[in-house]
Amino acid sequence: MAIQRIIDTASEDEGTEEQLIEVSLRPQRFDEYIGQERLKKNLKLAIAAAKKRDEPIDHVLLYGPPGLGKTTMASVIANEMGVGLRVTAGPAIERAGDLASILTNLQDGDILFIDEIHRLSRAVEEVLYSAMEDFKLDIVIGKGPAARSVRLDLPKFTVIGATTRTGSLAAPLRDRFGHLHRLEFYTPEEIAQIITRAATILNTTIHPESAQTLSHRARLTPRIANRLLKRVRDYADVNGDGIIDTAITSQALTMMEIDDMGLDPADRLMIRSIIQNYGDNPVGLTTIAALTGDEASTIEDFYEPYLLQIGFIERTPRGRRVTPKARKHVEK
Ligand code: ADE
Repeated sequence: MAIQRIIDTASEDEGTEEQLIEVSLRPQRFDEYIGQERLKKNLKLAIAAAKKRDEPIDHVLLYGPPGLGKTTMASVIANEMGVGLRVTAGPAIERAGDLASILTNLQDGDILFIDEIHRLSRAVEEVLYSAMEDFKLDIVIGKGPAARSVRLDLPKFTVIGATTRTGSLAAPLRDRFGHLHRLEFYTPEEIAQIITRAATILNTTIHPESAQTLSHRARLTPRIANRLLKRVRDYADVNGDGIIDTAITSQALTMMEIDDMGLDPADRLMIRSIIQNYGDNPVGLTTIAALTGDEASTIEDFYEPYLLQIGFIERTPRGRRVTPKARKHVEK
């Protein structure tokens, strides 16, 4: 069993209460959404054009590491368009019939957000792309020789798909999206702004230096930034007067064992074990997974993107290699 990590980017671990807070921290409109400037510019244009023509916007595929705001962006788009949003996820749509019932219950203009869209089954995928193409649903009624196929008209809807990997999406499905956008890691300055905004919503005072400090430990990821902020706020409420200042921040981060690059003990252990066993040589993903006790896909989707971004790990044709920069960091 892998070590439970505070910097975990998966959302599944969040309880209902945490989700409620997350929701209230989420920006509702573009003018509240910090960062992803290029994406916002493109989407604003698409929305303005769609509104002018009184049509739904083209289907949108958002991809990139978890925690960067794909779901949030989908709800911002729905708000800006003034339409309904239905949220689901690839693994939740088990059969073509599940998708049919979702689609026939949509209203004209609605947005259907499908998280982890790369995890749809082939059968469901096929129904989806014909629905996306011409807003028709082909269903087979009856069995055997009596079976016949009928075409149902669907409302004109927009799919917003989210995935951590575009590579695992079947080409015919990928081709149905008019907008394909990668969400980028945020800059530390943007993360500091997100932390300051969240602190205001949570009614917490945070000194600007502390927002800066936290921004460098949040793995350039808003979800982690907000989670760290809440943990430090807990610490400040219990061990201080609730104000997040330099001393409180540094004590809380020491307690959480998150270092100045945002790495936690599990990251450092992973890097150290690779160095110990393989030195500077490339090592396969499954071997790394065996070293840490994580699933290979968890490492690839959740932990590795940030380590690649900060240049601690390199991808080579023969596997992943720890860089001298990472070695220096864990050995200091
Ligand atoms: N909270 C989480 N992500 C955010 C973002 N991109 N902008 C503002 N607040 C956020």
